[in-house]
Amino acid sequence: MTVQDTGSVEDLAARLRPGFTLGVASAAFQIEGSLTTDGRGPSGWDAFSEKPGAIVDGGSPAIACDHYNRADQDIALMQELGVDSYRFSLSWPRIQPDGQGSINQRGLDFYDRLIDKLLAAGISPMVTLYHWDTPLPLEHAGGWLNRQTALRFAAYSAIVAERFGDRVDSWVTVNEPVSVTLQGYALGAHAPGHQLLFDCLPAAHHQLLGHGMAVQALRAAGVSGQIGISNMHSPVRPATNKLSDRLMAEALDLILNRIYADAILLGQYPKPHFALWPWFRSLGPVQDGDLAVIAQPLDFYGVNYYYPIKVASGRGPAEIPTGTAEEMVNVPFHLAAYQEYPVTGFGWPEAPEQLATLLQEMKVRYGASLPPIYITEGGASFPEPDHVSGPVQDTDRITYLAEHLGHALTATGPGGQAEGVDLRGYYVWTLLDNFEWAAGYSQRFGLVHVDFETLERTPKESFYWLRALERARRHHA
Ligand code: BGC
Repeated sequence: MTVQDTGSVEDLAARLRPGFTLGVASAAFQIEGSLTTDGRGPSGWDAFSEKPGAIVDGGSPAIACDHYNRADQDIALMQELGVDSYRFSLSWPRIQPDGQGSINQRGLDFYDRLIDKLLAAGISPMVTLYHWDTPLPLEHAGGWLNRQTALRFAAYSAIVAERFGDRVDSWVTVNEPVSVTLQGYALGAHAPGHQLLFDCLPAAHHQLLGHGMAVQALRAAGVSGQIGISNMHSPVRPATNKLSDRLMAEALDLILNRIYADAILLGQYPKPHFALWPWFRSLGPVQDGDLAVIAQPLDFYGVNYYYPIKVASGRGPAEIPTGTAEEMVNVPFHLAAYQEYPVTGFGWPEAPEQLATLLQEMKVRYGASLPPIYITEGGASFPEPDHVSGPVQDTDRITYLAEHLGHALTATGPGGQAEGVDLRGYYVWTLLDNFEWAAGYSQRFGLVHVDFETLERTPKESFYWLRALERARRHHA
């Protein structure tokens, strides 16, 4: 497919109802660089990245995309792209270097300018308060295992609300608490590198509590924008219909999806099958009133969707990825391969129709408790060269995005919401190739290629595809 073959672009554009948001998403730590500039304090990820072997090829986040110094250029790219909205995160340690106490005005000033420039460019800011870069002093005090971190997060949210509450259109409190819990606290593949397996769950509870307290802080400050959270959702299927496989699928569904969504949307943690109780015991004891705080009413619910999971009972043949908890070999389940789907550069199955199923299943489970939904992230990495002399022909990314958006729209039912899911927007992950956490620079997700030696930005074919979609949509409006 090339941009010239825009038949599908026209069809897709015609299906976007007025007001549907098309955006791009990013995270501070993955793009900003300038980790020691203008008073920023270190985060847990700064420390983790320095551990030998933690990051593929020893990739350093010190410069990343140098967005801290090149924000103007990146806004200009978004303007050319024609997106309605930009989702980005604030770096907590840039704003409050110790995670508590004194504020770094220069950090606030950077985001102040960014927000004003976005607004001037006609791009609506969606601000994520926490995308994984916990201030290091808080990490040293236990990070999300420590209940105090939730209170600190609420205090930081109040500072930010005070400064930007009049200009930010949408707020995301926490990005993917499940990823932090599992990758950071259970498996050790991400910062802070703990390998607690099922004892990781207090980190989930405290992030959820931090989320609820942040919502309260934003509301108390009277922010004008809408408030939500971004959770990753991975539909989980058993490899076979065997009881043991189904039980493990239930366990993973709780671990990946329902602990978060049930607490936020229903105000309760799911009740596991009694055979699974030992795994979930570290989720308690929960203090009185916590779940009511976690279940604050939201204006929207953000879904990050990348891939589905298929699970089988029994220990897996698979080797455990380097750097992750070796005890994983002892858990009585393993992930089974989806033979029927192609895979991305990360080896993740491409299953666009499962996004529609996921949205419909959420509608059934949560009913009237489900707020309007934004897909706050979706995208894919593919092997691409480090240096280019023109647009990368990333046909596979165009197909990925067109299919995922298309399938998401099928979940909305006639007229956009009627009996279906009230889907308000889709944010592509991501604008720029960037620091892909433990994968360093080995996985390129961007609509724009970044040469990490020269920092030159070169839009890929997918950039022009999304631009064509934006233009066709305006034409239909
Ligand atoms: C995270 C992003 C990450 C993307 C691709 C999401 O889970 O929010 O920070 O880059 O996945 O791995």
